[in-house]
Amino acid sequence: MLMIPSVLPTYSRAPLHFVKGEGTWLVEEDGRRFLDLGSGIAVNALGHAHPALVAALTAQAQNLWHVSNLYEIPQQQALADKLVAESFADTVFFTNSGTESCELAVKMARKYWYDKGQPEKTDIIAFAGSFHGRSSAGIAAAGSEKMTKGFGPLLPGFKHLPWGDHEALDAAIDDNTAAILIEPVQGEGGIRPLPDQCMQGLRKLCDEKGVLLVLDEVQCGIGRTGRLFAHEWAGIAPDIMMVAKGIGGGFPLGAVLATEEAASGMTAGTHGSTYGGNPLGCAVGCAVMDHVTDPAFLDGVNRKAGLLRQKLEGLVAAHPDIFEEVRGMGLMLGLKCKIAPADLVKAGYEALVITVPAADNVVRLLPPLTITEDEIGEAIARLDTAASALATPASSSV
Ligand SMILES: Cc1ncc(COP(=O)(O)O)c(C=O)c1O
Repeated sequence: MLMIPSVLPTYSRAPLHFVKGEGTWLVEEDGRRFLDLGSGIAVNALGHAHPALVAALTAQAQNLWHVSNLYEIPQQQALADKLVAESFADTVFFTNSGTESCELAVKMARKYWYDKGQPEKTDIIAFAGSFHGRSSAGIAAAGSEKMTKGFGPLLPGFKHLPWGDHEALDAAIDDNTAAILIEPVQGEGGIRPLPDQCMQGLRKLCDEKGVLLVLDEVQCGIGRTGRLFAHEWAGIAPDIMMVAKGIGGGFPLGAVLATEEAASGMTAGTHGSTYGGNPLGCAVGCAVMDHVTDPAFLDGVNRKAGLLRQKLEGLVAAHPDIFEEVRGMGLMLGLKCKIAPADLVKAGYEALVITVPAADNVVRLLPPLTITEDEIGEAIARLDTAASALATPASSSV
């Protein structure tokens, strides 16, 4: 008799069966309503079943689902134009996921130097605690044993440095370095923002040493930190940037954005994707962009982020045996725990609030950017219930 489940068992799943999503809420098949502070890991940027996204998807679905990239795709052109207008980028390639964006970012960086007559520049410097997806380039880039063990031989040409060690970085760059690849805010690594001055220092170092700066904004991009892209806070621009998750609002969509110079090696025939930039995904992506680029929307994200953070500080102060600190940017926040984060996530399920564990003993809070102030109050009440359930009898609640 076969023991393996019909779905390949690569995930340890919580026994929850959500059947409907409405804004910040997920409805379980038994009728329980969970407050969603996870957004499918920073995906549902506009919440669940946002009317504008439903309208964009259904209108497109009634006309045309798919055409090949052998032909012009107007929705793709429209979304690329929006991304170019709102960012450092001059050009965009559409993918279906973050890890595919990583694949292209690596190819693009290497091809750039190859075409410049410096084919020895192939190394990509990445950082401990990073996450860039589960493709061969993604796991080689992150380099952690957890992801790479048993999957060798790994794609060569990646160097891994400790997070935040400026001297190690300076010393690691040599004649073979093609690019530095970094998340402005590490997500899976435990909500670790790169300070603005480090980001500025990175840009300067790349310029001085002739290295491309590749940012992975798959998790922290698309309004999550209160700016369209997280690197904007530091006032710098990358050469290449990976995007996914929030840009599709729940529809599988990713992108690589680049300057004309950095993209110069990617000529006809050098890359492709059957589904990348498909009309359905791009129609939804356009609707996401129209909302997220509205300055009033981003002001709202920043205001709500301030409120959530302030209330989380109160929660941390009320449960010193459970929490160590709040960290992060915008609506990409982490509760560093003194207990196992999985225990808090589980207690959250009991209290009907969804959170996401991360490395470094952190529980992530990545609510839809559309969360309301009332829902923030409710989130804190539910997190307080979860923390109280785990607390020793002597500890207090908010
Ligand atoms: C920063 C970052 N990069 C890349 C990825 C990979 O994205 P995907 O799962 O869509 O392949 C993720 C996913 O969590 C991510 O957080």
